Amino acid sequence: MKTRVCIIGGGPSGLLLSQLLHLQGIDNVVLERQSRDYVLGRIRAGVLEHGFAELMREAGCGERMDREGEIHHGFFIAHEGRLDRIDLHRHSGGNSVVVYGQTEITRDLYAARDRMNGVVIHNAEDVRPHDLTGAAPYVTYRVGDEIRRIDCEFVIGADGFHGVSRKSIPATELREYERVYPFGWLGVLSRTKPVSPELIYAKHERGFALCSLRSQVLSRYYIQVPLSDRVEDWSDDAFWAELKRRLPGEVAARLVTGPSIEKSIAPLRSFVAEPMRYGRLFLAGDAAHIVPPTGARGLNSAASDIHYLYHALLDHYRHGDPSGLDNYSAKALARVWKAQRFSWWMTTLLHRFDDAIPYDQRLQQVELEYLLASEAAQAALAENYVGLPF
Ligand code: APR
Ligand code: PHB
Repeated sequence: MKTRVCIIGGGPSGLLLSQLLHLQGIDNVVLERQSRDYVLGRIRAGVLEHGFAELMREAGCGERMDREGEIHHGFFIAHEGRLDRIDLHRHSGGNSVVVYGQTEITRDLYAARDRMNGVVIHNAEDVRPHDLTGAAPYVTYRVGDEIRRIDCEFVIGADGFHGVSRKSIPATELREYERVYPFGWLGVLSRTKPVSPELIYAKHERGFALCSLRSQVLSRYYIQVPLSDRVEDWSDDAFWAELKRRLPGEVAARLVTGPSIEKSIAPLRSFVAEPMRYGRLFLAGDAAHIVPPTGARGLNSAASDIHYLYHALLDHYRHGDPSGLDNYSAKALARVWKAQRFSWWMTTLLHRFDDAIPYDQRLQQVELEYLLASEAAQAALAENYVGLPF
């Protein structure tokens, strides 16, 4: 098979780029290791920044998001039994975020690819990029016993943190930065009315908690847990009891509990690989960088990569202008690092760190006091939470 752009990974990054390029007549193929059902079974975060929502609309995939997604103008921070609201709208000059599950985003992108007869190959095993520094790269993959080959002009590594793309860059060409946090988030999805119309981020001496939602009948809750905990250790009852302990009394009192329909533990990690280009391979999204979920930056960090890459490829194919591709890595990383900073800051502000010395604990307290008392600090939070400009 021959195509212009071979995209490895059929998650939101790969599918969004595929859709945008196809709309501009740029031929591409998506290679995904898993089945579609598997990809759509993954529960991921659900807060979209303004710029991501715009890209979805540009890709012709914003209709259901605009219909079913909720616009949120703020969120709450719970601490010491109190609730304080961060007014995103007021502090960001009228901006907001859209609450709409990433699984739904992926579903909408697949539907759009189907409508346009986009080529998305599922269950592609042993995907391998080749000759990335030459003029004619290609990608091989296996279906059953048969090895197939796709010749292309560019390879996009949108295959997530565990993908093959980043690993095909020689170690001598890559610098990796990583921080692994000593805790994870235990998440529960339940068909219950959300405890609050807006998200609640809770700082508590027992650990962080988050009340989020997918819709007015579907709630998503998280609690900070030690990395040694296993999902099987947590019954639904134990989860709800622990969540309630970490919320202000009046919030805990109105929390509606119910059976979990999904329960999982995600470790918290910050990670960046530099550069995001190797020859004709371009990394995007989780393949190149990971953030802890605290600031809801994961998908949004991927969105700016896709925006830059899309425009760089357009300039290349439309005007023969290589500058976008040449500058891609530097441009993408500049924004990636800002998202890293913000999610590290929000994680550090709100979690319990068992190894914190008393001095650190006081600093954490005063950081929150300062935030809640300062319009300037809230503006900085809002500017980052709704998403820095691309
Ligand atoms: N070959 C082909 N596909 C692969 C391979 C491989 N070797 N390895 C992984 N994949 C696929 C995965 O199965 C997955 O569907 O690549 C896809 C990567 O998707 P994501 O992990 O969702 O990454 P990305 O599309 O960059 O999405 C950005 O935002 O909220 C965050 O982490 C969250 O996934 C989210 C991310
Ligand atoms: C979620 O709804 O899953 C969610 C929301 C906000 C976050 C992280 C996760 O910061």
